[in-house]
Amino acid sequence: SKAPVGLVGLGVMGKSLAINLATKGVDVSVFNRHVEELEVDIAKNFAAENKSIYDFPWFDNMEKFMTSLERPRNIILMVNAGPAVDLVIESLQPFLNEDDLIIDGGNSHYKDTIRREKELKKQGILFMGAGISGGEEGARKGPSIMPGGSDEAYNRVGGILETIAARDKNGDPCCTHVGPNGAGHFVKMLHNGVEYGEMQLISEAYHLLRFGAKASPEEIASIFENWNRDMKSFLLEISVDILRKREDNGFLIDKILDAAKQKGTGGWSTNAALELGVPLDTITAAVLARNISGKKQERTQAVEMYGNNQQAFTSVEEISEGLFNAFKAGSIINHAIGFDLLLEASKSYNWNLNLSEIARIWTNGCIIRSQLMEELIELLKHSPSKNLLMNKEISKRIKEYQPHLNQIVGNAINAGFPMPLMSSAVNYLHSFTSAQSSANMIQAQRDYFGAHTYERTDKARGEFFHTDWLDN
Ligand code: 6PG
Repeated sequence: SKAPVGLVGLGVMGKSLAINLATKGVDVSVFNRHVEELEVDIAKNFAAENKSIYDFPWFDNMEKFMTSLERPRNIILMVNAGPAVDLVIESLQPFLNEDDLIIDGGNSHYKDTIRREKELKKQGILFMGAGISGGEEGARKGPSIMPGGSDEAYNRVGGILETIAARDKNGDPCCTHVGPNGAGHFVKMLHNGVEYGEMQLISEAYHLLRFGAKASPEEIASIFENWNRDMKSFLLEISVDILRKREDNGFLIDKILDAAKQKGTGGWSTNAALELGVPLDTITAAVLARNISGKKQERTQAVEMYGNNQQAFTSVEEISEGLFNAFKAGSIINHAIGFDLLLEASKSYNWNLNLSEIARIWTNGCIIRSQLMEELIELLKHSPSKNLLMNKEISKRIKEYQPHLNQIVGNAINAGFPMPLMSSAVNYLHSFTSAQSSANMIQAQRDYFGAHTYERTDKARGEFFHTDWLDN
């Protein structure tokens, strides 16, 4: 019999997703191209290794793979984002028939997804860009899935995607039809942006406790564990495990090189914000913090020149309560900024994104699941088209935490500790809550050197003025 789903690309995520499908009772054929340099065939090996789970029909021949699938076909691509996706689509081309559906489950750029959907549509081929979050374990047991594409495409495979997705607290799938064309991949991209922000926030708290308060990794683990009774954040939870990991006679964290890598999706969110002309402070700060961390050698040399040796300036007892409040504020602001970008993109692209639903499918399976996300479902339901900071409940919390956020950032900066995430959160908050910004000066400068004109507070908006600044 023929399989209702085919899966191309047996990397870590592809393998896990194939096993997930099979475990949930969805018949699936798998394909991986034959790799010359390898002695064993990846697809064959995968099938042999997982024989006890399911008898995977495996292929390294595209034509035979395509023949093994029920028509119209549903083909999930789990290949590296970028040119590889176009190459695989090209290799499918000779065997595709009208109404076949290709689902790209990788971290593709949403603009590539928009382009691919448009091109394939001309041939009568359906295309979905589905963001998948949760890493290897999530893909295997239940990820959060963010599919974008036409109604026709979602009606066809939505059921299957929902079957393999994680469950929220009501038992509903962490998968929803996010919107048309690139919407799913945009939402996944922003998920990763928020992920970068939360990771940086945790890292800053760790850094301050470790070096500013001379806490041991074990002590920090206990502090984070305490915090996480409230936060229930997956990223905080794994950070506790990380901090407790010992190796020989020390902690592993102390031996890990402090230079972060990235695959780009965090920065894509910044690019999108720049294009849309909207802020994205915390997420951008998190991306740039990774970038500067990469300059390890220069940083080490600069210490000698500037003598910034970050002396301990506080104690765990003194700092931890304030730091917890600063942390909570940073996290809320990071989420507010992320969801605001979704709102702006939704307007610009006419995607009609349902932010509350997006929060809901992010409550399990994905990397940024947390108690806050759980609460955002309701908060975003009540004010679906406003910045989260304008929500009464959120403002109550922010007002409580803000003094600590200000203080922690101020003290840390004074003592020579960088605070890219928390300070950008403070700056965003102060800017967002200032009726009088500094931009009157910017406007005057623009008018002075370039006659760019300005609007006036004592005249109606939309009326533009120019001054001859040297005429006294
Ligand atoms: C997820 C993760 C996953 C991932 C990215 C980002 O949702 O499961 O976001 O997609 O870890 O690859 O990784 P980088 O830190 O390398 O950019």
